[in-house]
Amino acid sequence: MSKKHNILLVDDQKENLDLYQNIFRKTCTVFTALDGDSAIKILTENDINLVLSDQKMPAMTGVELLTLVKEQKSEVRRLLITAYSEVYSAIDAINKGSVHRYISKPCDMDELKQIVLQELKFYDLEQENKRLAKKLEEQNQKLIKWNEELEKKVLKRTDELKKIQEELIHSAKLALIGKLASNMAHELKNQLIGVKIFFELIEKKIQNDKELSKTLINIKEHYHIMFDILGEFWNLSQKDVSKYPKESCDVTILIKEVIELIKFDSLCNKHEIIYYPSGPPIILYLNKNKIKQVLLNLIRNAAQAIKNKGKIIIETGGINEDEFYSIDIIDNGEGIPEKIRNKIWEPFFTTREDGLGLGLDICKQIINAHNGKIFLVPNKEKGTICSVLLPAK
Ligand SMILES: Nc1ncnc2c1ncn2[C@@H]1O[C@H](COP(=O)(O)OP(=O)(O)OP(=O)(O)O)[C@@H](O)[C@H]1O
Ligand SMILES: [Mg+2]
Repeated sequence: MSKKHNILLVDDQKENLDLYQNIFRKTCTVFTALDGDSAIKILTENDINLVLSDQKMPAMTGVELLTLVKEQKSEVRRLLITAYSEVYSAIDAINKGSVHRYISKPCDMDELKQIVLQELKFYDLEQENKRLAKKLEEQNQKLIKWNEELEKKVLKRTDELKKIQEELIHSAKLALIGKLASNMAHELKNQLIGVKIFFELIEKKIQNDKELSKTLINIKEHYHIMFDILGEFWNLSQKDVSKYPKESCDVTILIKEVIELIKFDSLCNKHEIIYYPSGPPIILYLNKNKIKQVLLNLIRNAAQAIKNKGKIIIETGGINEDEFYSIDIIDNGEGIPEKIRNKIWEPFFTTREDGLGLGLDICKQIINAHNGKIFLVPNKEKGTICSVLLPAK
């Protein structure tokens, strides 16, 4: 059942009020007032839906009262009962918007009832309209918010797609560079084989000339270095590292040999290199030269990351639960900036002017070929820790 409407009837004549009250008692909750001031008091204290006022009252006229009602609660329907002689002030009030309708005296009670009920329907319709408009506005706001969120998501996805596309282009470029470089290495190696044949011819002819023979030995050494470098490059491009011959070897001795080697490396020997071998010898199955190459690369990287004079610690760990033996190279250098951490393993990625950006890629391939693991993590205080894990079996 719908809620009963509250209506306020105002007339300075009590008998009129009783008469009106009689016809609305059943359908509405009726409030009555004998003058304008009491009417305003009732209006302020109650949820009134309609005011029906007589025009001619001593202190405050009906139009004056309904104008105040409009100012206080504009949604209240306002009806005026007026004598024919005062009809013009009622029309004027309608034009100004203070009064919705007027009923001229003497009024027919049935007609009055119909008019009031009609006005109450208007009231309900207006309230429903307001409720719907509010709901529409709320839904609209929700839609705007959803739209904004959707736009943000689309932008994020577009950004991700752009990054993936850039990475793909980058990988394609790397693959092309790799292919060109491996072809070049192959061709240069062929040319060097020709150079070797001519060496051997000259070697035989200058056997008695000691001076020239010594120079030739020097040239030959450089030739071998070049040949080895190209060989490495070729191997790398062929991804053939798994075929390295392996042998049983004591890792502590191997590290000591690497340290002996770097004593002659001007890049490394300005820093303090610390290694305390601990515990019994650890025998692993590996390619000695390749693991040496890895350690040299990592120690050189560490040395290059230290600005002036620093410290490089080599730490070896026992076999852990995963059956891996660990070799850590710890430096107190500049560290690796967060934004390049996922790029350093890419071939040809370097931050150094004279770097090729191949060191870590080569190390990874060698360690992978030993079924090991290699990773770089920031050192707690300063610098980087590079860990190499080699399988114990
Ligand atoms: N210990 C380290 N501390 C700080 N940065 C490092 C360290 N090791 C590697 N890096 C970063 O990783 C990059 C790639 O290293 P990588 O050894 O692959 O190439 P490179 O040293 O630049 O050149 P090269 O081919 O001569 O080794 C380096 O340029 C450097 O920015
Ligand atoms: Mg390097």
